[in-house]
Amino acid sequence: MKKETQKSFELSAEGLAFVKKELTRYETKRSAILPCLYRVQKENGGWVSPEAVSHLSKVMDIPTAYINEVLSFYTMYNKCPVGKLHIQVCCNLSCAMNGGRELAEHLCRSFNVKEGEISANGEVTISRVECLGACDIAPMAQVNEEYVGPLKKETVVEQMKELLKKQ
Ligand code: FES
Repeated sequence: MKKETQKSFELSAEGLAFVKKELTRYETKRSAILPCLYRVQKENGGWVSPEAVSHLSKVMDIPTAYINEVLSFYTMYNKCPVGKLHIQVCCNLSCAMNGGRELAEHLCRSFNVKEGEISANGEVTISRVECLGACDIAPMAQVNEEYVGPLKKETVVEQMKELLKKQ
């Protein structure tokens, strides 16, 4: 897979203040990586670039290797750019048994986008993910930061279009 990069990234003044505050909340700086990466992702249009890691490393005064360890472990961080609406369809057991995989395929066809790619208009990315711990609402998806389910094939596209309008 091609490694995605961007020209540069810097946190906003609010973002910097957020990171500084997080650094005071834990015994070790490394414990603050999770929320700080999340903030970076939010400010960087939904993904964490190598440039953003390097900026965060300077701000937190932590080696990039520690940040990259966390980044690669958790699926909630996107390592490539995503569309305005990132639909992460759970395809693990409970969701798969309730049609999760078919939903993912249906969404890809309806939005005319390949899994993991950004639609031509930049609006949608659809990915399959493992259990998100919300099996009680299977089949479900994480849409940006929101959990949505149980999803139905008949209504899911309209539901996603509505969520897109709110972005
Ligand atoms: S299997 Fe989909 S949320 Fe658990």
